Amino acid sequence: MKHLAGIIGSPVAHSLSPVFQQAAFGACGLDAEYQRWETTPAVLPARVASLREARCLGANVTIPYKEQVIPLIDELGGQSARVGAVNTIVNRGGRLFGFNTDGPGFIAALRDEASFDVAGTDVLLSGAGGAARGIAFALAEAGAARIAIWNRTASRAARLAADVAGEARGEVVSLPAPPSEARYDLVVQTTSIGMEGGPDPTGVAAGLDGARQSALAVDIVYAPEDTPFLQAARRRGLRTLGGLPMLIHQGALAFELFTGVHAPLEVMFDAARQELARRSAGAAR
Ligand code: ATR
Repeated sequence: MKHLAGIIGSPVAHSLSPVFQQAAFGACGLDAEYQRWETTPAVLPARVASLREARCLGANVTIPYKEQVIPLIDELGGQSARVGAVNTIVNRGGRLFGFNTDGPGFIAALRDEASFDVAGTDVLLSGAGGAARGIAFALAEAGAARIAIWNRTASRAARLAADVAGEARGEVVSLPAPPSEARYDLVVQTTSIGMEGGPDPTGVAAGLDGARQSALAVDIVYAPEDTPFLQAARRRGLRTLGGLPMLIHQGALAFELFTGVHAPLEVMFDAARQELARRSAGAAR
């Protein structure tokens, strides 16, 4: 029986997940196909129900459905209940289990690609949207000493800080203005500023003034791979990490939940990079 998995969202036409998940199935010799499931709100319940079929391994879930799928599945695993968002649904014998691998993928990317250990560090999160939520909970679980959240809309930062504070051993605060004191060990840019096709592709999100000279600056935007924020961080002499490692690591954790097979990270990185290069060559023509 050929197995099936896919990505549920809208739009999913440009998602990289089908590219690197299919490459991983191939590299591991698994007879499985990963599909793009463009989904309207009206068909979301039927799409999720179809994951119960025996041939279906599960699905990734992306914008705008990470919260809306929760009432449609049977159990929540990992941090997904606390985060309030599911990015991975796994079919186990007709029961659907929801997980959130965004935060754990972020922590894995920091560890594996930048040798950065979050425990005991002072962290600045720039942005308080859906992506920031998963990351904030994962930073708290990983033992950050202090998490400060700055966002254009202050109420969102305050709400996220209050939600995470209940889970954290360290301090969690929202900031009334971008930081000016260079005290942070890790600065994470989670807004859509700098994103190709986003609201402000040439902008640099606030936050770098808070970075210590030894800090790691991370942008979770992966298209382009080298963002204006990363370029600005390098000009200040900071170490940087782009968004592709987080994307691949969250996908690798989802792949392992789907298949029980160790994810071939290098294959997934190569497939994603080739696709991004192909797209930017296409865009340049
Ligand atoms: P995602 O799930 O990708 O995080 P989101 O929930 O829409 O998407 O969040 C987008 C984030 O980018 C928010 O922090 C948003 O700030 P607001 O809460 O003030 O909207 C931030 N953002 C987007 N465009 C921005 C801009 N031009 N300037 C500052 N922040 C911006």
